[in-house]
Amino acid sequence: MIDLSHPAPSFSDAEALTIAREHFGIEGRISPLASERDQNFKIDSNDGHSFILKIVNASEPRDQSDFQTALLEHLEKHACELAVPRLRRALTGLALASVEGPSGELHAVRMVSWQIGEPLATMERTPATLGNLGKVLGELDRAMQGFIHAGALRTFDWDIRAAGLSRQRVQYVNDAADRALLERWLDRFDRDVAPRLPALRAAVIHNDANDWNVLVDASDPTRIAGLIDFGDALHSVLIAEVAVACAYSILEVEDPIGAAGSIVAGFNAQYSLLEEEVDLLFDLIVMRLVISVTMSAQRSDKTAENPYLQVSEAPAWNLLRRLDRMNPGLATAILRQACGYDAFPGAKAIVRWIEDNNKSFRSILATHPARLAKGIVPYGDPQNPMTVLSAGKEPEKATEWWDAYAGDQKIALGIGPWGEERSVYTGTMFESRFIAGTRRTRHLGLDLFMPAGTKLYTPIDAVVSEVMIEEDPLGYGCLVKLEHRPEGCPPFATLWGHLAHEAVGRLRPGEKLAAGDLIGEMGGPSENGGWVPHLHLQLSVDTQLAAMEILGVGEPAFLPVWAELFPDAAAFAGLPPETFEQSGRSRSEIVAERKSILLPNLSISYAEPIKFVRGEGAWLIDDRGRAYLDCFNNVCHLGHAHPDVVEALSKQAGILNTNTRYLHDNIVDYAERLTATLPGDLCVATFACSGSEANSLMLRMMRAHTGREEAIVLDWAYHGTTQELIDLSPYKYKRKGGKGRKSHVYEANIPDTYRAPADWPADKIAQRYAESVAEQIASMRKAGKGPGVFLAESIPSVAGQVFLPEGYLREVYAMVRAAGGICAADEVQVGFGRVGSHWWAFETQGVVPDIVTMGKPIGNGHPMAAVVTTREVAASFNNGMEYFNTFGGNPVSCAVGLAVLDVIERDDLRGNALAMGNYLLERFRAMQARYEVIGDVRGQGLFLGIELVTDRKTKQPATELARKINNGARERGVLMGTEGPHDNVLKLRPPMIFNRANADLLIEVMEETFAAVMAEA
Ligand SMILES: Cc1ncc(COP(=O)(O)O)c(C=O)c1O
Repeated sequence: MIDLSHPAPSFSDAEALTIAREHFGIEGRISPLASERDQNFKIDSNDGHSFILKIVNASEPRDQSDFQTALLEHLEKHACELAVPRLRRALTGLALASVEGPSGELHAVRMVSWQIGEPLATMERTPATLGNLGKVLGELDRAMQGFIHAGALRTFDWDIRAAGLSRQRVQYVNDAADRALLERWLDRFDRDVAPRLPALRAAVIHNDANDWNVLVDASDPTRIAGLIDFGDALHSVLIAEVAVACAYSILEVEDPIGAAGSIVAGFNAQYSLLEEEVDLLFDLIVMRLVISVTMSAQRSDKTAENPYLQVSEAPAWNLLRRLDRMNPGLATAILRQACGYDAFPGAKAIVRWIEDNNKSFRSILATHPARLAKGIVPYGDPQNPMTVLSAGKEPEKATEWWDAYAGDQKIALGIGPWGEERSVYTGTMFESRFIAGTRRTRHLGLDLFMPAGTKLYTPIDAVVSEVMIEEDPLGYGCLVKLEHRPEGCPPFATLWGHLAHEAVGRLRPGEKLAAGDLIGEMGGPSENGGWVPHLHLQLSVDTQLAAMEILGVGEPAFLPVWAELFPDAAAFAGLPPETFEQSGRSRSEIVAERKSILLPNLSISYAEPIKFVRGEGAWLIDDRGRAYLDCFNNVCHLGHAHPDVVEALSKQAGILNTNTRYLHDNIVDYAERLTATLPGDLCVATFACSGSEANSLMLRMMRAHTGREEAIVLDWAYHGTTQELIDLSPYKYKRKGGKGRKSHVYEANIPDTYRAPADWPADKIAQRYAESVAEQIASMRKAGKGPGVFLAESIPSVAGQVFLPEGYLREVYAMVRAAGGICAADEVQVGFGRVGSHWWAFETQGVVPDIVTMGKPIGNGHPMAAVVTTREVAASFNNGMEYFNTFGGNPVSCAVGLAVLDVIERDDLRGNALAMGNYLLERFRAMQARYEVIGDVRGQGLFLGIELVTDRKTKQPATELARKINNGARERGVLMGTEGPHDNVLKLRPPMIFNRANADLLIEVMEETFAAVMAEA
């Protein structure tokens, strides 16, 4: 062991010069240098080189001196680029000389090259300089890998592993508070750090990269010009190298941890540090300072004249006191991230788990936040009255302002986003402990603003960890910390701030909460720290941080660290990302632009149109992150953006898309699969791009097959948008802009069982309605004509979700066929298993048409359509004119069509449609029992109609009421439509994946809406 109290050598300058000349052959000018234990001289040789002559303390054992020279020799070989002193051998050829001191003691003497540069201690410590310092140390230690020497295995007070010995020196510190600080850190070292040190990597390290031993280039202060003084080198834990460099380089800087981050990042870039090393770095920096200040205190009396010892004492104490106020976990997070590690182990995995699983979370509010109309609370604007009033501790007035604003903007849920820069945090508690002179201004929670009393529920299972009241003004008020340990995810914590105090009496630490259990309610200003009522919800990936250690607001400079430690809780709370970021034009801009450059009669839903930006299953998400349950759009048959369809589409689109002139597997595979779903002789398929195109093709087939033009359609039918189909659509030609019925078109009564004349016997209704078709055939006959086609939707939809009376199509098809016509089923809306019991709605009537046209749901949103007919009709159509359709039947569309069929079959969506449809019918019928206005509830599978009447006897259509219900449902986040000649039938066509929760929500909204609309009436 080195005797630290042994006096330093005391050779005169002249004696030193003599040693230089006699032992090393160097002559020149000499100047003494400061040294703690040895005696150092600078010698500027006459031939223009500079050296350091080191006369080693006589107490230094020989193996120590040998170790130093071996180390320098090792670096000479393995790190010739490194700016470290180079050995000048003695005239004997040996690295060390030996001289006798005045008292007869022998001193080892070494000569090394002088490194040119300015001590870092005297220069500005920029992040670049510190980063380069870290790099140089990393290079040095990498070069030192594998080097060992007996002299390196020494016991030494400056060995960080021996930092615990500082406890013996604490007594020399005068101030009691300072002593307490040291004891605290020493306790922590003994308890948490020392036991972990033996498992860390150990190596020979420089161990004293203090800011006087680090030289920088005066002309480029970012460049490290030299690292000197290997006198403290030893075999210790590798991370001590970084800790020592940090302890001195971060003295007197505004942002010590940021500065340490630069050093450790630089080191790590050259020599990768392990997580367990970085995890101890903050403590080891502190311990280096503890060693330093206690050492100074102990020796202050004895060596008061030795300035070297005291050089960093006052700044070291300042730094120690600052570090003492920092949370080690938070500081470590900064250092970990600087090395490219998760700020906390598992941080990223937690965020991923939440994103992957949040669909199955329970709602945090009684109504899921995704379903509420949301708006951003203006705390990001320092001038906003709400901000000014809140910062000025006038929460009641701020609440008044917000309530008025939210009411005006129809905001049900105010959002305070994560990361927002805020000026409201005015208290001293918001001063940064990390960066001198700065404040914490970035919001690290997610705020949900709703009225005081709003109940809050845990989305996943939890254990109550803390329940407390923070009294500080602009603090949290009642605060709850929960811990979550979901399967497959590292544990994490959530913080629930600004609650009503009732939670304190109700929740107990250790208590288990199940997903969906009540946590508390939003508190009023008197309970919530003096704020507009809201919840501050925050995640912490570090469960060890106490509620009050979790930073609710953070320093902008460390936002990337806080982002990992305290990730945005938006996904945890189930908020769609659109809540926070809008792209593209605003709704009003789009409306204006549509008016100016699109057809003015292009149809648009709702007086206040919605801009949807995303679809997901049964949900459509608008541009402000509000999710609507889609019970109307039957095109996205399997739900919006169904992954199987998206994959099939993108995969095939990435390979090939051509047309039917070339051979491809997809079209035949798809035709096989599609025709297999159809009964009878319906075995020839062809493909098109829209329902209209399919119906037009059907008309060409009809003409080719029957030689006739005449068509019988049902009243109020719609079959497509081309002129020839408008001519077959009473819904169009009889209404505004329509030109009336053309002579080749014959209209049969809509076979509406609900509106059948009261005196028709129930079992005769089909027959009576069929008579209307017979009449049309008779009137054709009178004109010497016959029917070419009877065209009908298998469940007339535009006419008001009309379900044909049993036996109707059987009678009609027989009549039409007897008169030489063919029968076509328009399954554009109702096909593909929507009715549940069958693939095709016509099957429920026990008939087989000659032609079936399909569209809408066929491609789950991809524009495609199909016509399937019999061999006989196909043969007639094959009249010599070649058939070609540029897009119809292309490989991409067929891949999509196949995916749709696959999913319907694989997931038994027909079974689901039937079950959900029956459930809805039952529930709607229960409502019908309570609401006189519900005249009829009808449906099959997921094709449903609710007819509203003002009087059940007269069946007077309740058109206005239907409009109100439709709008009321939209306001409550459910999309449906109204239909029928009087627009009094609520039309529902939810996607085939509609589940029980979706159905229950639909019912809940229907109940609420009916109650509200009826109360208003
Ligand atoms: C029953 C029916 N047939 C045909 C069509 C026309 O289909 P598309 O709009 O794809 O041309 C529609 C469209 O609403 C329809 O409802």
